[in-house]
Amino acid sequence: MPSFKIRPVKSIRGEISLAGDKSIAHRSIFISAIAKGKTQIYNFPASRDCLASLRAFRKLGVTISERGLSPYGLNISVAGRGIYGLKKPRSAIYAGESGTTFRLLSGLLSGQPFRASLTAGQSLSRRPMRRVTEPLRRMGAEIKARGARRTAHGATEDYPPMTIKGGRLRGITYRMPVASAQVKSALLLAGLYAEGITRVIEPKITRDHTERMLKDFGADIGIKGKIIGVTGKKELISPGEIHIPADISSAAFFIVAAILLPDSELIIKSVGLNPGRVGAIRVLRRMGADIKIIPDESSAFGSEPAGDIVVKSGELAGVDIKSNEISQMIDELPVLMLASCLARGRTVIYGAQELRVKETDRIFSMLTNLKKLGANIHVSGRTPKYARPQEKIVIEGTSRLKGATVKSFSDHRTAMTMIIAGLFSQGQTSIDDTACIAKSFPGFLEALKSLTL
Ligand code: S3P
Repeated sequence: MPSFKIRPVKSIRGEISLAGDKSIAHRSIFISAIAKGKTQIYNFPASRDCLASLRAFRKLGVTISERGLSPYGLNISVAGRGIYGLKKPRSAIYAGESGTTFRLLSGLLSGQPFRASLTAGQSLSRRPMRRVTEPLRRMGAEIKARGARRTAHGATEDYPPMTIKGGRLRGITYRMPVASAQVKSALLLAGLYAEGITRVIEPKITRDHTERMLKDFGADIGIKGKIIGVTGKKELISPGEIHIPADISSAAFFIVAAILLPDSELIIKSVGLNPGRVGAIRVLRRMGADIKIIPDESSAFGSEPAGDIVVKSGELAGVDIKSNEISQMIDELPVLMLASCLARGRTVIYGAQELRVKETDRIFSMLTNLKKLGANIHVSGRTPKYARPQEKIVIEGTSRLKGATVKSFSDHRTAMTMIIAGLFSQGQTSIDDTACIAKSFPGFLEALKSLTL
């Protein structure tokens, strides 16, 4: 693929609507597939990851029909099969590069009375799965995974592919060692099939899309602070419709562009504002950004909060981002690192080591690329490999970046961040690959083109 070249633009202006939120979209398929009744899903993103979930459930015997295009995504209809209605797939289910598909399916398949195999693409096959297999095994699932020896002490990790023989689960109380909405959701989905109550205790707040949607479908779920409990063996009933708000993780790229480009003003319509997802907005405001939110009071998006975001250009000042905030902005950290490079003073990001196990090691990809643009950024506090490092990313702001040749590392969020960087870096920025962007945001380049002057 030829490299993609970006040159500086003057401003970014206008109004934009975006495809639906990736996290909510995955859950909309998972939960409507095992509910009673039909669910119409509006603004489902036609991104590679979300389509991986759609295909997985077709393989599990669920009829999912496409009902045409909504302006920015697909409208689909899912014929729910009830909690015990999934069929044993005839061959392995391929999750592609979608970590959410793979991890949430591990949980759901653990509750099924059949054996099924889950396979993954190249980069997902390198991502750790012990975080889900360990608690699911405790609940009673039989899981075989590709294992690997990690340390001299013999600690092991699980990687895709996996084979899961589910059924006969018992509820457990599980204190999660890592803050992960994917792990939490996998356990709650397994808990729907378990004897008794499954309780998950989160170390830090993460997105609660699964909890909200399960409630909307009538699940017996209770939440007390960071403890979430679900009672198993109850049918779910479809509320009929799910309208997916725009993805705040996609919106974040445009928000940062609008802040950093002079004379910019952007309105992003109907963006999902789940409390576990708005950390980047909070941090950017703390840095001095002019971001207004016009809340949607209509309940058009069910129990998910949403609203229009209005953002104008302005100066940023460096801040500290604490480790207990990280899980609420985990996917926005690459573009926040970019914003910090152009803030006045120093930004320190504490405890962002989860970025090392995303589609690529995003601390490495961003440091490598941003340094090429002339940024002053480094990591300190890295302790020996696998020893639960508490890293901090230190960024000294500068007044300008210069174009360079950078790499996506096959990661959609690294690629989109570097394209945004190219909009205000002197000269030309060139990136090796943009195909990876379709993982979450197929229309990104066109949307950007329509707004830049
Ligand atoms: C997601 C949770 C996050 C996030 C990912 C989507 C989800 O992952 O990075 O893009 O939909 O639950 P972790 O749970 O691994 O932090």
